Amino acid sequence: MEESKLQDLLNEMTLEEKVGQLTQVFGQPYLDDNYEVTGPMSFLAVPSELVPVAGSILGASGAESTRKIQDVYLEKSRLKIPLLFMADVIHGYKTIFPIPLGIGASWNPDTAVKTAKISAVETAVSGIHVTFSPMVDLVRDPRWGRVMESTGEDKFLNEQFAEAFVRGYQGDSYSDPYAIASCVKHFAAYGAPEGGRDYNTVNMSERQLREDYLSAYQAAIDAGTELVMTSFNVVDGIPSTGNRWLLKDLLRDEMGFEGVVISDWGAVKEMIPHGVAADEKEAALKALNATNDIEMMTFTYHRYAKDHIDAGHVDEKLIDESVMRILKLKNKLGLFENPYRAASQDDEKDLIFSDAHRQTALEVAEESMVLLKNDSVLPLEDNGQTVALIGPFAEGEDMLGAWSWKGEAETASSLHASLKSALTSGNVLYAKGSAITETTEEWMEEAVKAASEADVVIMALGESAEMSGEAASRSDITLPQSQADLLKKIAELGKPIATVLFNGRPLDLNTVEPYSDAILEAWFPGTEGGEAVANLLTGKTNPSGKLPMSFPESVGQIPVYYNHYNTGRPAEEREEGRYASRYLDVSNYPKYAFGYGLSYTSFDYSKVTLSSDIMTADEPIEVNVTLTNTGKRAGQEAVQLYIRDLVGEVVRPKKELKGFRKVQLNPGESKKVSFTLSEDMLTYVHQDLTKQADAGEFDVFVGASSLAEHSGRFSLKI
Ligand code: NOJ
Repeated sequence: MEESKLQDLLNEMTLEEKVGQLTQVFGQPYLDDNYEVTGPMSFLAVPSELVPVAGSILGASGAESTRKIQDVYLEKSRLKIPLLFMADVIHGYKTIFPIPLGIGASWNPDTAVKTAKISAVETAVSGIHVTFSPMVDLVRDPRWGRVMESTGEDKFLNEQFAEAFVRGYQGDSYSDPYAIASCVKHFAAYGAPEGGRDYNTVNMSERQLREDYLSAYQAAIDAGTELVMTSFNVVDGIPSTGNRWLLKDLLRDEMGFEGVVISDWGAVKEMIPHGVAADEKEAALKALNATNDIEMMTFTYHRYAKDHIDAGHVDEKLIDESVMRILKLKNKLGLFENPYRAASQDDEKDLIFSDAHRQTALEVAEESMVLLKNDSVLPLEDNGQTVALIGPFAEGEDMLGAWSWKGEAETASSLHASLKSALTSGNVLYAKGSAITETTEEWMEEAVKAASEADVVIMALGESAEMSGEAASRSDITLPQSQADLLKKIAELGKPIATVLFNGRPLDLNTVEPYSDAILEAWFPGTEGGEAVANLLTGKTNPSGKLPMSFPESVGQIPVYYNHYNTGRPAEEREEGRYASRYLDVSNYPKYAFGYGLSYTSFDYSKVTLSSDIMTADEPIEVNVTLTNTGKRAGQEAVQLYIRDLVGEVVRPKKELKGFRKVQLNPGESKKVSFTLSEDMLTYVHQDLTKQADAGEFDVFVGASSLAEHSGRFSLKI
């Protein structure tokens, strides 16, 4: 439809119809002739008058079902404005990719583009138009279960992935029926809940919010994301969904977001328990005036928007603007011409979970895994040796992880079967040993027997899928006790042990590392997880993942992240004596640092050269290094560039990531890697909240992780 016609449509709408567009409901009322919700779920019951006017649907899927919902709705609707279908497709629809934290560990934003494109195809043919992804919340606390949905602790890395995910989902144009709209979330700072407890208070200065937390949302906005979802938390004491400064002044006016803002599930009504709204009516008032467009799954707009307009507390113009944003989105997606868009049962059969999609899932899973330790155990040689494969993830345990509602855990490749076919000449013994949180004496004995008959032991251990994700915070982030006991018992046999970890967060590895000669972090690797792990264990593929988030040495250090400030009493500079910024009982350092990850080959970094030791606004600096593969296997390395601003107007991090490049090298091969550093890359948020760079000296560090050594210095002249 021509955009000018949308105004005519808006003019024809009654207030009730307009407010309907601002409400998201689930699909049941359209599928079930005798629709009625009773009992404890009755608060979710969609009021019957809302059914013919609601604007969008949450969580419906499948071409047959979405088409039916659309048909029934259009039949009932006076103006025949099609419904928008939205759902959580977070790391794949039916073909499940590694969790986003694993995708971040690839240090290759192309993996995000590829996986988002495939997710979009599978989602589109099932009749969904919008995915509630990417989540780009910056995270520093692995106790928070939702770190699995993020790409980690660094804003630069997150920005690159935010852009890549949006580009992957949305493609170049919606004339491609398989492109879907993306919704970036959760605005703002949802990743910083106190104590890592989900939904908890967020408390930070506006300067820090602007400095560390906003840029990944901004990257998604600049990439054209159509929607933004509000967060459950407060920002400076006001829940995001009712925070006009946040949504109007900052998001829309300053950050330039022109699309649709949707509340998180029930977040409008949650302003009541938050204690900033006395009742539903006041909650509606706050969310409407904050310019939150769509209310997800509660009905306060439907019930009270008219009262507020009649009383002059909400300007109807605000409602019109919200409705127009939603109509524009529906129009962009072509729904007025074809309300079913790509929904097709035939295409579902042909395209969903196709071999090509699964092949990409395999490649991305391989690229996401991080080799944390390797004392000459891996790769396993196919030399007739006997391998014991032990643990809950060897067979049967869910490898897909949270937020994979359409994925079928049983269809994922099994590690046991994959390892058996990869080791053609050897013998693979299997024992479960333990379930996720419990074991039996019999299981333990079987495991000890298998291990004692083996030359090498692979332990496949981890968290269950439910132990991370939404509402899955943990205060103890070690392995569940029964698995830790199992590992310790097997280690008593003195056989070489490689532990493969399946989990949704950085773990405290104190019960793993001392008993493992090698550790491979596999995250929740998705549909092809078993085969990907087998390929890495046997060296068919060389590991190349690097950590997107620090692994703490102990939970008491949290938050421990690489780009922290120095303090006035840095421990490194006061090695003796007490009055330095350190713990009495644990180091200041993570067990495994941000950016760290091993390979089966080795890389040599040449001396780093700078094109000049003076930078000006017009003259960026080039940072050059030559990387050589000095080992015997082909491999990929994520070369990382960090800087430190030595004297700032406010304190500056000890290191800040400013560039990275994934380089593929054959044995003996060398490549020159160049980064450009320009003045705008040195800017940060000053005390007066403006973004500026400081004249003066900057250190440069280039290397294989955030532990990269000092490589040079330059001065910025302003
Ligand atoms: C709540 C979650 O916080 C959000 O990420 C998700 O998109 C919505 N529920 C919808 O399921």
